[in-house]
Amino acid sequence: MSIDERLANTNFPLPAIREVNLSKHPSGISLGLGELKNFRVDKKIFESLQNNWSNGGTSYTQNAGLPGLRKAIAQKQHEQDGFDYDETNVVVTIGVQNAIYTSIRTLQKLGAKRVLIPSIHFGIYKKIPADFGLEVLCYPLNDDFSINLQALEELILPDDIIILNSPSNPTGKVFTSDELKSLAKLLEQKLTEGYVISDEIYGALVYEGTAFESFSKYFERTITADGVSKSGAVAGLRVGWLVTRNQQLAKALTSNNATIISTPPTVNQFAALPIVKGETNATIQDYNQVLKNNRDKVESFLKGMDIPFNSPRGSFYIFPKLSSIVGEDTKDFCLETASKENGVVVIPGIAFGAKEHIRISLATDEMDEALNRLEEAINQYS
Ligand SMILES: Cc1ncc(COP(=O)(O)O)c(C=O)c1O
Repeated sequence: MSIDERLANTNFPLPAIREVNLSKHPSGISLGLGELKNFRVDKKIFESLQNNWSNGGTSYTQNAGLPGLRKAIAQKQHEQDGFDYDETNVVVTIGVQNAIYTSIRTLQKLGAKRVLIPSIHFGIYKKIPADFGLEVLCYPLNDDFSINLQALEELILPDDIIILNSPSNPTGKVFTSDELKSLAKLLEQKLTEGYVISDEIYGALVYEGTAFESFSKYFERTITADGVSKSGAVAGLRVGWLVTRNQQLAKALTSNNATIISTPPTVNQFAALPIVKGETNATIQDYNQVLKNNRDKVESFLKGMDIPFNSPRGSFYIFPKLSSIVGEDTKDFCLETASKENGVVVIPGIAFGAKEHIRISLATDEMDEALNRLEEAINQYS
């Protein structure tokens, strides 16, 4: 078969999240987005971009990214886990998606064969390794979205890649210190050659309970993936990074990523600097206040409708189980509700491997009206 014949017979689908968002009626409200879209962007970010535009901002940087940004990331990671880092431990990437892609590809080149991901997961955790021909296995979660450690223990081989995501998209679960410690204890025994990729992109967005902790605090063989897309409300800047205690591994990650991206966009790295340095923390606290208020509104709505959910305390999603009302797979409900006039977009759980659920984004300034519409849609559907 020729390339063109294969092309005609092959479907290269967009992610399921995009599919539902694209079906939105112009009069619809979106609770489907994975970004803080209409949130105020801290002006320090723009100032840094503007001030550095003609100060090297349009030149290439080193393959691993701007040394100044990498130093700031090293310092941030030190504050999170207590270990010493410098710029040679850090690789700047084009968003966390690129960071995860390169981590998996690099570990595959170093011999990894399998990737273990949470049974409820952000879609690329499955898609990226599957594209590389790696075996992907899901480790089960408990009903409260914590990791079922016993089941995980039975799955692990010493050289696996294990992906963690706390705070989680889509569940909003933030692991406690005790949960992180128990997991690290298990991995010390079982994951003697492999690595954890810890996706901590929502780390700054914890709006309740104990503060976020980086998994690398407890487990040395961790590659931390983080970025500014969520914490800065600047998903379009496309700045992320990887940090590892192993400088040799950082070099390998840099080399592999250079093949894909050459360098991350320079002026965008300058723009990310104030976020990484903590200069926009007051703005992030404002975001967290909005997210918590919206979380509370959605929870009272769900209680009123008798829809089961776990209370999230980080990221900006809630992941209730809607199957008892709209049927085992929520996708048709979501597509119908998104596409009708005065509808609302919520994402079907199938996009995250859990078809009975829907993901509701808390990142909106129209929550009251959105919930009115959701109530009407559920009542009409059932
Ligand atoms: C858990 C998680 N990881 C990674 C990403 C991708 O982030 P970025 O925009 O930095 O590529 C997202 C975006 O939605 C996400 O939810």
